[in-house]
Amino acid sequence: MIGLVVVTSMPAIETDGLTKRFGADVLAVDDLDLTVEEGEVFGFLGPNGAGKSTTINVLLDFVRPTAGSARVLGLDAQADAAAIRERIGVLPEGGELYDRLTGREHLEWIARTNDLQESVDYEATLDRVGLTAEEAARPVGGYSKGMAQRLAFGMAILGEPDLLLLDEPSSGLDPTGMQEMRTIIREEADRGATVFFSSHILGEVESVCDRLGIMNEGRLVTTGTIDALRDELDLDASVSIEVDAVPDGLAADIESNEGVHAVETDGTTLTISVANPTRKIDAIRRVDERATVLDVRSTDTSLEQLFNTYTGNGEGEPEPSAAGFAGDETAETAAEVGR
Ligand SMILES: Nc1ncnc2c1ncn2[C@@H]1O[C@H](COP(=O)(O)OP(=O)(O)OP(=O)(O)O)[C@@H](O)[C@H]1O
Ligand SMILES: [Mg+2]
Repeated sequence: MIGLVVVTSMPAIETDGLTKRFGADVLAVDDLDLTVEEGEVFGFLGPNGAGKSTTINVLLDFVRPTAGSARVLGLDAQADAAAIRERIGVLPEGGELYDRLTGREHLEWIARTNDLQESVDYEATLDRVGLTAEEAARPVGGYSKGMAQRLAFGMAILGEPDLLLLDEPSSGLDPTGMQEMRTIIREEADRGATVFFSSHILGEVESVCDRLGIMNEGRLVTTGTIDALRDELDLDASVSIEVDAVPDGLAADIESNEGVHAVETDGTTLTISVANPTRKIDAIRRVDERATVLDVRSTDTSLEQLFNTYTGNGEGEPEPSAAGFAGDETAETAAEVGR
């Protein structure tokens, strides 16, 4: 007998006209059509109140949709919620921790409820999220915010789930913790997991996501790769490089390279506008071949512009509710050149 195996790839997450109202006045999610492919790292970005958590809560069957439907790993988010839960790792907004239980007991509890006892390596998981054995032996009531978030992250990745649903995983983490979290997200993707995570932090999304979606007032205003969104809006990234002396013809040489939009020279500083952030590194290398580089400053405000363009915050200062975008972007910028 000849067996025929048809392998079809199905999206990890698919919503169709998903709508959630709270009472008569609040339209939290408005006719959302979202597809996240298997194996993707997808960043779900938007300001406070955009509907990110509500969407995630529908995928988890914590909240029933008013209209439309959602499928997770090919299963119906409502009808098949129990089967879905066995295959996903979750970091809910605000966590779900019990003060009297230790960190380790939380992991054991997740392992028990997911039938994972045999296969779980608690030490390795704690190590990955940066909690020591001593910390894991303490009740969670005495944890700092960052430690609680690290534990919640460990609970999500325990048992190698097919899909991670993370609601603001970087919340409460310091810059080192955020970097570690990004590393884990990439590692999870590398072993084949799909990662769907919400964030306010544009730099975080840029450095770890394959694709992003921007939510505003319950609507998905755009989806795509960061580069595609930049191209669509014709946004520049730029880098300022201070050198000991600018050799003749250097600016023109750099400007003639693919992906370089403009080069301005001010004294011994070259400011190079490029089509996307990866071109910045090329530009720095080229300058470094011909001059002594004294300082490099990356001035990439384009994601903030991108967000403002789609959410209607205008060209100037972001609205107070979006203040995190400006601040976080600045914080990211210093680290970016080194990546
Ligand atoms: N249980 C609820 N009852 C009533 N309104 C709710 C409920 N949950 C969310 N909302 C409302 O739905 C809208 C979307 O909220 P949601 O929590 O999904 O936003 P978010 O994008 O996750 O925001 P944040 O970045 O602040 O976490 C908000 O107006 C919020 O007040
Ligand atoms: Mg939220």
